[in-house]
Amino acid sequence: MNITAQKGDILTQEVDIRVVGIYEGENWENDFIQRLGEETGGKLKVNANKKEFTGKIGQALSFPELLIVGLGKQENLSKSLRELTGMVYQQLQARPITTASIELFGEDDEKYDPQSTAQKMTEAILLSSYQFIAYKKPKQKNILENIYLIAEDGRDANKAQKGIEKAEMIIDGVTVARDLVNTPAQDMKPIRLAQTAEKIAKMSTNIKVRVYNREQIEKKNMNAFLAVAQGADSEPRLIHLIYKPEKAKKSIAIVGKGVTFDSGGLSIKPAQFMETMKCDMAGSAVVLGLFATLTRIQPNVEIHGIIAATENMPSGKAIRPGDVVRAANNKTIEILNTDAEGRLTLADALVYAQKQKPDYLVDLATLTGACVVALGEEIAAVMTNSDELAKNIISSASNADEQIWEMPLYDRYSKLIESDIADLRNISSSRYGGTLTAALFLKEFIDEDQKWAHIDIAGPAYAEKPMASYVGKGGTGFGVRTLLGWIESM
Ligand code: BES
Ligand code: MN
Ligand code: ZN
Repeated sequence: MNITAQKGDILTQEVDIRVVGIYEGENWENDFIQRLGEETGGKLKVNANKKEFTGKIGQALSFPELLIVGLGKQENLSKSLRELTGMVYQQLQARPITTASIELFGEDDEKYDPQSTAQKMTEAILLSSYQFIAYKKPKQKNILENIYLIAEDGRDANKAQKGIEKAEMIIDGVTVARDLVNTPAQDMKPIRLAQTAEKIAKMSTNIKVRVYNREQIEKKNMNAFLAVAQGADSEPRLIHLIYKPEKAKKSIAIVGKGVTFDSGGLSIKPAQFMETMKCDMAGSAVVLGLFATLTRIQPNVEIHGIIAATENMPSGKAIRPGDVVRAANNKTIEILNTDAEGRLTLADALVYAQKQKPDYLVDLATLTGACVVALGEEIAAVMTNSDELAKNIISSASNADEQIWEMPLYDRYSKLIESDIADLRNISSSRYGGTLTAALFLKEFIDEDQKWAHIDIAGPAYAEKPMASYVGKGGTGFGVRTLLGWIESM
């Protein structure tokens, strides 16, 4: 599908359908119908007797060649642009048409910015049109070929075109992440994540990759990571991607949880909880999706992407509840529940990441069911030792329309992860506050002066029901857009 910005009048476009927005409560009918008559010589007609159309967001008046959509309240428009455009796309897609023109919504707004408007609208269109068809014939052929975003002003159209191109780069990365998450675990073993990283590096001049196998991981004393990997027949990989621009202002490390399937191990999960556990590498998918965009976006920040990739499987070789391992920072961990495996892989990955001396360290992980209980399926939690990081990540999330809310690193709960026979236990001794105790466990592997944020994406990484008008079921790529926005704001 092609999306292009064009200067023009929305009503006189030579396309199958034109999409026009009306604000809630706007007194539009008379003006609009007059304009329609003048511009199209009566070719397009609307039946204006639709009293139920008040311009509320989500409402639509649908005619053969014209779609009038409610924009909601003007002051809320920038916050609802993606949702709105997703709804428009659904309407367009249901029609047997190949071309459509959509006006850039909010053009008459004081705060209107053609570039960011076009970027948001394009993101929503591209995210909406995503299908995962590697294992299934597409449901319907996407016959919509050309979408034009129409600006009244020529300079605005140029800026809008920039926004479109930006969105295309970003959504390519999100799509990489979604495909990785949606691919069944049988085909998404740790080596596949490593191969994906290698492919990304190969396509770029300033991305390098190092991949370590089990023996090499042993030499790095990453025994917490290896404890998870030891039950699986598939081989683990430690993946380290490095993006190095010429004159970087800052350096960051992003660690993504890469458990390609989480059966729970010997502390095996009930069948129902296991159904979606191919998604347990979603954090690593965000890292790979992010790196897939860097060559084109070229941010001026050095970025390390780190993934400790393994399956979590039960077997005769598997780690047993009660076993004790020594992590790469020399701390010992009593593994009482093999289903709390993410924090074990992350512990060693975080220690490794800090050896790169990043200014900021961020990890993304589908870490706790408790996070889904606390915040539901659409909201991620961030826990951090840096107010500055919290502020910047939350504000980038807000710009991206991804929901990330802060939860506390509450030190008093650290006693809940004290072990009788080791430095730490991998599960809390309390039933409550599981997201916080998981974060506090990770904090044990963070140096005093390291600025660090942990983002628990257990809820939004994988949509069991559609998460927005423009995000359907399955892997969402949640985090890619937020991180890119954050990196670009540095
Ligand atoms: N991968 C799961 C967390 C998860 C749950 C992700 C639901 C996505 C959706 C994690 O490894 C896990 O099993 N966590 C346990 C921890 C418990 C044993 C302390 C959990 O949340 O039940
Ligand atoms: Mn688990
Ligand atoms: Zn897990």
